[in-house]
Amino acid sequence: MEAIDVLTGRVSGSALVDPAPDDLELHTMLSAAVRAPDHGRLRPWRFIVLRGAARKRLGRLMGQTYQRRHPDATPAQVEKEASKPLRAPLVVVVAAKINQQSNIPAIEQILSAGAAAENFMVAAFALGFGCAWKTGDAAYDPEIKSAVGLTPADAIVAFLYLGTNKNPPAPPAALALYDHVVQWPDDESP
Ligand SMILES: Cc1cc2nc3c(=O)[nH]c(=O)nc-3n(C[C@H](O)[C@H](O)[C@H](O)COP(=O)(O)O)c2cc1C
Repeated sequence: MEAIDVLTGRVSGSALVDPAPDDLELHTMLSAAVRAPDHGRLRPWRFIVLRGAARKRLGRLMGQTYQRRHPDATPAQVEKEASKPLRAPLVVVVAAKINQQSNIPAIEQILSAGAAAENFMVAAFALGFGCAWKTGDAAYDPEIKSAVGLTPADAIVAFLYLGTNKNPPAPPAALALYDHVVQWPDDESP
């Protein structure tokens, strides 16, 4: 696929099933991710790869932290939260490890991690895999951050769900592109 077709045609995956990307395909996606623009070459990105039972570990933690945040939650609600990482055969947590000593603002380090997540998704799409970007309250929970090696000042920017699309994804919906664009006139008028 031409790069421009990948960029203009990317859509999220929805029902994601086996096979997941193998290690070589994952390596390709990670290689695309770390080509994200990175102010000050701080390399703030971290990728935590969860396959198989590792997803259950995250799920258990997501259930427990959900219960902590929602003391009145029903067992069904906790179970629903805990089952989220099992919705795809591979989950990659994308994070920004913030360099507090740098004069590059934290927001720019987080943006770089977001760009890495997008590069990863685009590479997944180009290789024919489905990929969906999720966050939710779990992404901001300090216990979950700690479990993946982050401090509260760091940021989880994405839980990327990966697998093979069960059904071919629909092409992206048409967008009123120029509702989002302003072009200043090509003159020096105030
Ligand atoms: C930072 C970020 C967080 C997101 N979190 C969620 C989420 O928690 N749940 C969800 O359904 N979609 C979430 N999305 C949106 C989807 O990943 C997806 O982009 C959106 O549904 C549009 O679909 P498309 O990518 O096929 O255009 C998030 C997107 C971004 C950029």
